[in-house]
Amino acid sequence: MTLALSSRHEWVKKSELRAMSVECERVGGINLSQGVCDLPVPEPVVRAAKKAIDAGNNSYSRHDGTDALRRALAVKYQRLAGLDVDPETNVVATSGATGALYCSCLALLEPGDEVMLFEPYYSYHESTIVATEAVPVFISTKAPDWSFSMEDLESAVTSKTRAIIVNTPSNPSGKVWSREELLQIAEFAKRHDIFVFTDEIYDLFVFDGLEHISMASLPGMWERTITMSGLSKTFSITGWRIGYAICSEKWAEAIGNFSDLVYVCAPTPLQMGAAAGIVELDDEYFAKLADKYRRKREILCDALFEAGLTPCVPQGAYYVLADVSWLPGSDSKSRAMYLLDKTGVACVPGESFFKGTAGDDIVRFCFAKEDDVVEEAGRRLQKLKALGIEKAG
Ligand SMILES: Cc1ncc(COP(=O)(O)O)c(C=O)c1O
Repeated sequence: MTLALSSRHEWVKKSELRAMSVECERVGGINLSQGVCDLPVPEPVVRAAKKAIDAGNNSYSRHDGTDALRRALAVKYQRLAGLDVDPETNVVATSGATGALYCSCLALLEPGDEVMLFEPYYSYHESTIVATEAVPVFISTKAPDWSFSMEDLESAVTSKTRAIIVNTPSNPSGKVWSREELLQIAEFAKRHDIFVFTDEIYDLFVFDGLEHISMASLPGMWERTITMSGLSKTFSITGWRIGYAICSEKWAEAIGNFSDLVYVCAPTPLQMGAAAGIVELDDEYFAKLADKYRRKREILCDALFEAGLTPCVPQGAYYVLADVSWLPGSDSKSRAMYLLDKTGVACVPGESFFKGTAGDDIVRFCFAKEDDVVEEAGRRLQKLKALGIEKAG
């Protein structure tokens, strides 16, 4: 017998995001590639986590989360979405939203089941589907509003279609799905009797007076919706690994069992910090937070327009897709590398978010950085203007 990697190892590739970050560090650039927020962690979150550690809350928690976190989430969803969430049976705290999707796929999908995924997609969504032996089926959307066609959805349905993923607000497009769009998906899911996995991790990052709508709150959707989210983004705690799934008890138990198997539990004292943040920070705090990000969006989008990298101005989340079609290079990766080389600003090649070639002309920038970092990135991007590259069209 020869030692070898499993055939499964081919299914999960090194994330393009990581590769760009490594390259950025090598050249000492400004990293607007990975969705890591540099902003300070809110005081109540830090205080409660430290207190929990000092008080000796350092053991495993219940596999589906501490009482405090499950209760806090039940209150949050009552307030935000009018959902009647039972903290005992409808909440599973997980290792990030990433863990919530992984465990949901393991618990609810058969090998070979098809899962619909809108392009542009968050690459972990695709990889998780593949890693759990399900099959992603890509549905294209059209810029600038990333609209989809019901005909495309209908013609992609097969007897194996089992779920559809909705990400609102979306990474990478920043699309905030409207109530009408979600109602269309809801009706579609009911008619074809499929699950909706909804990733709502950016639910509090919504701009321009738009409203975040939770799929589970729409009529008849609670039973078939797995709401996945986490506190990584809201509290700038991407390294804490606190996320959750909210759903009917019919599914929550099995999702929780997989989470127990893979992660045992989310870090106990950090769950306590997150719970305190949810309870103690009020609507005004979150409105101010969204406004801070709106300002960052403005700074970056203005700079992109000025540099000729026309952005598709996002409605939510904290990323912006921009046009790099006129930069030298044959695909988005070479164009992103060119950009890093000439301006010292790292971004993610658009090909990470599409199956085909639709991402070749775009890149994604993350603006979850301190204002001065976003401003400096904006200034560096203007170096493109001095290079005298012919912009076609
Ligand atoms: C859409 C989306 N879902 C999930 C995650 C990861 O969330 P977590 O840190 O809770 O695993 C990200 C991070 O970039 C994301 O953009």
